[in-house]
Amino acid sequence: MNTFTRWLRKKWALYIFLCAPIFYVFVPISQYDTEYLADPAKYLLEYVGKAATILFVIVSCITPLKMVFPKVSLVNVLVFHRRQIGVSVFVYALLHLVIYYFYTGTWEIFLEDWNKLFILSGIIALALLLVLAVTSNNWSLKRLGPKRWKQIHRLSYLIMFLLIFHQAAQEKTGYRETAIYFAPLIVLQGYRVIKLATKKRTEPLPSEATRH
Ligand code: HEM
Repeated sequence: MNTFTRWLRKKWALYIFLCAPIFYVFVPISQYDTEYLADPAKYLLEYVGKAATILFVIVSCITPLKMVFPKVSLVNVLVFHRRQIGVSVFVYALLHLVIYYFYTGTWEIFLEDWNKLFILSGIIALALLLVLAVTSNNWSLKRLGPKRWKQIHRLSYLIMFLLIFHQAAQEKTGYRETAIYFAPLIVLQGYRVIKLATKKRTEPLPSEATRH
């Protein structure tokens, strides 16, 4: 492990990484970006939603990345910080909901709109992210046992589809941006599925293994 990756394993490096979206939002604000000035609450709502989605894609890429590049130290740093990155997805998603309140100015619109498919997909994704966040600690792993814990954490696949829908449903000009956000995850998961399938096929069946 070189000095750089040793730094990246430190807690402060992780917190800088996780707070980067908060630091970066001051760039458009300080530059009086027209999109920000037109509707600051809408801008921040979309910005924080995108930050949560990008972190979700990053954390979901870690397992397939580890499979493809097991020896790359940067991948091992991500594996090391995986839980905290996962929890930060929930924190940003919750912040997105808080900003949604300021954007609409009341919870009444939320209560009226909750059954619209695009809002409902966001609510379910947020609820599932909460489940993953509260069960991401060692205590839960011990209480649930590795098998059940793994089953619960497979909910992340469902979250992926919900978030793709939530974001794509709002794109008035097509699904280009959503496709760009989720492309690395879809490619890596596709590779993982193919690799697991070919591994299973090349492994001898129990009956074949005992035939010789
Ligand atoms: C209670 C749950 C949620 C509600 C009520 C909600 C509400 C909204 C609303 C109203 C918008 C549209 C903003 C506009 O007018 O352009 C939006 C956009 C978005 N939301 Fe959510 N959301 C929720 C959950 C989530 C979650 C869990 C994530 C991700 C982890 C997320 C990510 C996004 C993204 C990426 C956008 C699109 C930004 C863009 O491309 O313009 N949302 N959400």
